Amino acid sequence: MNLEVVILAAGQGTRMKSRLPKVLHAVGGKPLLEHVINTAQALLPKALHVVAGHGSEQVQEALSGYDINWVLQSERLGTGHAVMQALPSVADDSVVLVLYGDVPLTRLTTLENLVEQAQNGPALLTATLQNPTGYGRILRDADGAMTGVVEEKDATDEQRLLQEINTGLLAAPARDFRDYLPRVDNKNQQGEYYLPDIIHLAVEDGKRVASCTALSELEILGVNDRVQLNQVEREYQRRQAEALMRQGVSIADAMRLDIRGSLTCGEEVFIDINAVFEGDVKLGNGVSVGANCVLCDVTVADGTVIHPMSHLQEATLGKDCSVGPFARLRPGTVLADGARIGNFVETKKANIGSGSKVNHLSYIGDCDMGAAVNVGAGTITCNYDGVNKHKTDIGDGVFVGSNSTLVAPLCIEEQGFVAAGSTVTTKVGKDELAVSRSRQRNIKGWNRPDKRVSKD
Ligand code: UD1
Ligand code: CA
Repeated sequence: MNLEVVILAAGQGTRMKSRLPKVLHAVGGKPLLEHVINTAQALLPKALHVVAGHGSEQVQEALSGYDINWVLQSERLGTGHAVMQALPSVADDSVVLVLYGDVPLTRLTTLENLVEQAQNGPALLTATLQNPTGYGRILRDADGAMTGVVEEKDATDEQRLLQEINTGLLAAPARDFRDYLPRVDNKNQQGEYYLPDIIHLAVEDGKRVASCTALSELEILGVNDRVQLNQVEREYQRRQAEALMRQGVSIADAMRLDIRGSLTCGEEVFIDINAVFEGDVKLGNGVSVGANCVLCDVTVADGTVIHPMSHLQEATLGKDCSVGPFARLRPGTVLADGARIGNFVETKKANIGSGSKVNHLSYIGDCDMGAAVNVGAGTITCNYDGVNKHKTDIGDGVFVGSNSTLVAPLCIEEQGFVAAGSTVTTKVGKDELAVSRSRQRNIKGWNRPDKRVSKD
């Protein structure tokens, strides 16, 4: 039977205290709703419907890359009403799985199981909680068969003692939704059309309702406020760290790792505490990432070491490079094998040739640097004249003395040598020495200034 998924995402999320629609708040750098969409996609549904309401334009815009049938619920009249809005676009012979846009950690196997149970009638995902407060409770008869769901606000004191709860996620053949949803009324404490009311209607009809149990409380955790958002975030990060460790990555502290995007690692990778990975990051075999590093859209080849406190963005690092501590590699930085970027060095749109070293306190921007170049401490490429950016070309084997100012556009040919403290404005030829600084004078018998005594 075909599967169609309906994701409910019309909620306002008042308790988030945010202008951003709730389902767009990020977990692991990705909107809550996108997590749910990705899980749904993994089930290979024939169609994916998302019921949006609050901030629907913004929500659609943020997820415009997906093939989604957007359904607008302009008035928020309850979960049953929300599903009703999607029904006209659902095929009669499909099984429909209902997910919540703010419940992002549900396991695929749990959902597969739920769908499996729903081929001939409704199936509901339940959980047994130590503290069931706030959830709808599952009602069962003497034989343990499910008879319905009662919302906490409508429950009797006795019913409130029940610990088995409705996670909200359910599946049923489309025909069951068509039969029972129009019969759901809103005569309850909240004046809403409750989706779980289809359960007792199905039971009254003589149908057997199946139930599946969630594996953990976390996989059904919904986000209503920022405390829950953080719980979900930490669990998501914990799962990612665990998956990496199982795959052979050493992680100094699984609780102090944040992946906001995708991280792929080779063998024998080590990640120290407080590393943050954003966008798409790839680490080769034997790569080590020091404490407090941030890597955003970075590719690192085998054997390279990134020392603590370094910030790398849109950079490509070759094999056996060394970066940091305290290095900043900005977009367009490409290090060839064996290059070394040391402390307090900033690079931008810079190709650093193999084995070249920029070890201390430098700015290298808009620069093509050959192999085996040594750049002394405090060297600056002056790439900007206030209007345009210009390039600096540095050939193989060049030596740039400390505290040099390289005014672009500039070319220093291979084996060129720049004396320390020079301001270089014109081309330095092959094997030439450029010295551009005032000559030293020593004045003999120099009297040091005296401390002046003020008259008043
Ligand atoms: C719902 C269930 C409750 C269950 C709980 C699990 C109902 C009546 N109750 O309660 O049994 O224990 O979830 O978390 O279903 N939504 C819409 N349109 C609406 C109403 C809701 O899209 O008109 C969406 C919300 O954005 C949210 C989801 O449906 O993603 C659940 O709505 P919510 O108001 O949080 O339901 P609860 O009252 O928590
Ligand atoms: Ca809720």
